[in-house]
Amino acid sequence: MNQEETPLYDSLIQFAERKSISFHVPGHKHGALFQKEDFFRRAARLDQTELSGLDDLHAPEGVIAKAQHLAADYFGAQQSRFLVGGSTVGNLAMILGTIQQNETVLVQRNCHKSILNGLELAGAKPVFLAPEYNDEKARYTHPSQHTVIKAIKMYPEAKALILTYPDYYGTVFDLKVIVDAAHAANMPVLIDEAHGVHLRTAESLPLSALQAGADVVVQSAHKMAPAFTMASYLHVNIGGYVQVGAIDRYLRMLQSSSPSYLLLASLDTARKYLATRSAEEMNNLQLTIDTLRSVLAQSDCWEVEKPDGDWLKIVLRVKPSYQPKQLAAELESHGIYPELVTDRHILLVHGLESLSQEELQRVEETINAVGSCSHRMPVHEVRLFTQPITELPVSYSEMEQKQAKFTAWEEAVGMIAAESIIPYPPGIPVLAKGEIVTKQHVEMIQLWKNSSISFQNERIAEGMLTYSK
Ligand SMILES: Cc1ncc(COP(=O)(O)O)c(C=O)c1O
Repeated sequence: MNQEETPLYDSLIQFAERKSISFHVPGHKHGALFQKEDFFRRAARLDQTELSGLDDLHAPEGVIAKAQHLAADYFGAQQSRFLVGGSTVGNLAMILGTIQQNETVLVQRNCHKSILNGLELAGAKPVFLAPEYNDEKARYTHPSQHTVIKAIKMYPEAKALILTYPDYYGTVFDLKVIVDAAHAANMPVLIDEAHGVHLRTAESLPLSALQAGADVVVQSAHKMAPAFTMASYLHVNIGGYVQVGAIDRYLRMLQSSSPSYLLLASLDTARKYLATRSAEEMNNLQLTIDTLRSVLAQSDCWEVEKPDGDWLKIVLRVKPSYQPKQLAAELESHGIYPELVTDRHILLVHGLESLSQEELQRVEETINAVGSCSHRMPVHEVRLFTQPITELPVSYSEMEQKQAKFTAWEEAVGMIAAESIIPYPPGIPVLAKGEIVTKQHVEMIQLWKNSSISFQNERIAEGMLTYSK
């Protein structure tokens, strides 16, 4: 297929050029109801609805179908779907379309909350695979190959294996070996590849999940490709382990009946952008990112992690004598905005185009200026996951029957979590709903609160919702 084509985007442009009279939604009437100088006025000309020639996301036959075929062709999938609700809706539909009530699922424990929400909605029985703690990186990464393969053998009845690949920091693992082991046990592999839409743009980037043989793959196009926020893809692979029809049914239920054409068209153009990156452009990009790494390494505040996966992710491991949040605030005061700050790391996500010389110089000047007012912070090592393979003590349906009550932190240890405790970003629960609250959980939550990490929970300073055992 010709990857230079953008059928959906082109149709929208042609439609906008017709200067038609709108007797239909949306109410901004091709942007005319915005003020003349309003920024939205131009963008709104492409914010269309299911008019003749513009197809329908929920029953695509025309330009949307063609744009999805082009995506499937580029990413190497049997079928691709455009998503307007982020990888969040993709993960929900992927799980709901594959797993039935009370079915066992093997799932990487440090997954995004949308995976856990999907499992709860499906009424699945999750078996959690704990990630390994990597001392050098000073963070949890992914479950070891040994743990995953052991779990596949222990739970041959499991209906799927769900993993995150790559993680937020760009760390990967040998997914192909794991997919082969799961397939040998007739188990489909579902991958949250929210952070990996760009992996096919360069040979030097890790293998994509589809290339490794995964069966369903969800990607946030908006995270690493030039697509609008929420625009994402869901792909189904050729192996025949899952039925795309069931996933489609859930996508039709979960996605808006008025999906944004701006988002959809940005998926069309993002795919073209990714598909047409040349090897030379990507090599040059890698070289300039190497230069940026050496500039960043001049600072005394952190060590720059050696990339061993996705080299667009730059991980600054903050030295124990500095406070990451404070360093990030200093960077921001100079107009440099990181993606993620934890109690140990600052994550910078590089784009798919090089910084200009001027921008590089600004970074250099800034890093020489930051760190002067940072306070020493003691770093506590808290290990969250003590068992490699765990099940929840009660099922989601049993939780429905229980009464949740608010419990102060001092009394929470030993209770069952009635809510997940979620630092955001990255949106990976420290404590998942249904898990038993441990001393380590409480310590970790206190530690992160003291490091000014934001949580998506009410009354987090005082306690949490729990069930009694
Ligand atoms: C690993 C992972 N999966 C899924 C998501 C959800 O993606 P989206 O924001 O596109 O809904 C995120 C968001 O940060 C994520 O980090």
